[in-house]
Amino acid sequence: MQKIGLLTPYLTQDGSYTFFSQEYAETFHSSSGAKQEAEKKFIDSCRIAEKAQQQPLIKLLDICYGLGYNSAAALAKIWEINPNCQVELIALEIDERVPQTAIALNLLESWLPSVSETLTTFVQNKKIITPKLKASLIIGDARKTIQQIYRDQFQADAIFLDPFSPTKCPQLWTVEFLDLVSKYLSPTGYLVTYSCAASVRTALQMAGLLIGATESVGRRSPGTIATWSNNSLPPLSQPEIEHLQTKAAIPYRDPFLSDSDVIIRQRREQEQQASPLEATSHWKKRWEKISKKTDLLPSNP
Ligand SMILES: C[S@@+](CC[C@H](N)C(=O)[O-])C[C@H]1O[C@@H](n2cnc3c(N)ncnc32)[C@H](O)[C@@H]1O
Repeated sequence: MQKIGLLTPYLTQDGSYTFFSQEYAETFHSSSGAKQEAEKKFIDSCRIAEKAQQQPLIKLLDICYGLGYNSAAALAKIWEINPNCQVELIALEIDERVPQTAIALNLLESWLPSVSETLTTFVQNKKIITPKLKASLIIGDARKTIQQIYRDQFQADAIFLDPFSPTKCPQLWTVEFLDLVSKYLSPTGYLVTYSCAASVRTALQMAGLLIGATESVGRRSPGTIATWSNNSLPPLSQPEIEHLQTKAAIPYRDPFLSDSDVIIRQRREQEQQASPLEATSHWKKRWEKISKKTDLLPSNP
């Protein structure tokens, strides 16, 4: 498949395509399966099927819309369970060429035509209003565009948090940004992300959210699910709990939601150097000795 601009189509192991970003030197999805990641890591984890059975209206906030796979997987699941369910979707994305290129290359075709055609119109017009879907695609830095959403009117049942990795794109994993994001999560909603980084989990906890681990998909580490009050969250393992007491758990900070990635990384490194917390390498060695199975440990320190 041909390369368009800085985006190179990349075939993943479940047969679906993602992009490789030259800017971030990272793929947009797990190489074990892009479609599978959207369906399992995001949609199954945030219990959308249950909500579709119980609610006539579901509100979704898709942070880092990208190719649109998380939204596509959500719509497919909701309408499979409840064909009449209404959906309100707000999607944030900095680079409109990403969803446009995905459409141009027909990458959404692995979903039913009712979903791929709806999202094609959505991306072309940056909004869509049908009897079953009211959606807006807001282009710009999510740190700013999220502030255009009226909190009183939009409390999400599910938030998909899907930026590039914390080391590459720390702007969208900071204490301040995640605190802002949490304000859009309904009292019964779920925020899900593929990341199990201790820094991200700490920032979510600092926003007042409870966190749990989502199932590993492919060969990847577990992700994270967060909610305001829910005792049935899948618990963190003992190594994951202790990971949160190491230097890796020092979160990224961006006091005015405007700093560059370089500044945000430097600020955290300085805080880590001055911190009395256990070195993450000690924690890793300790648990490697205990488990002898390094793949049980969360990665992305
Ligand atoms: C890992 S990809 C998201 C994949 C996407 N969820 C999907 O299903 O295809 C990260 C996306 O974040 C976008 N992005 C990067 N920085 C951003 C920012 N500051 N605000 C909003 N979007 C951003 C990138 O353009 C990219 O599309």
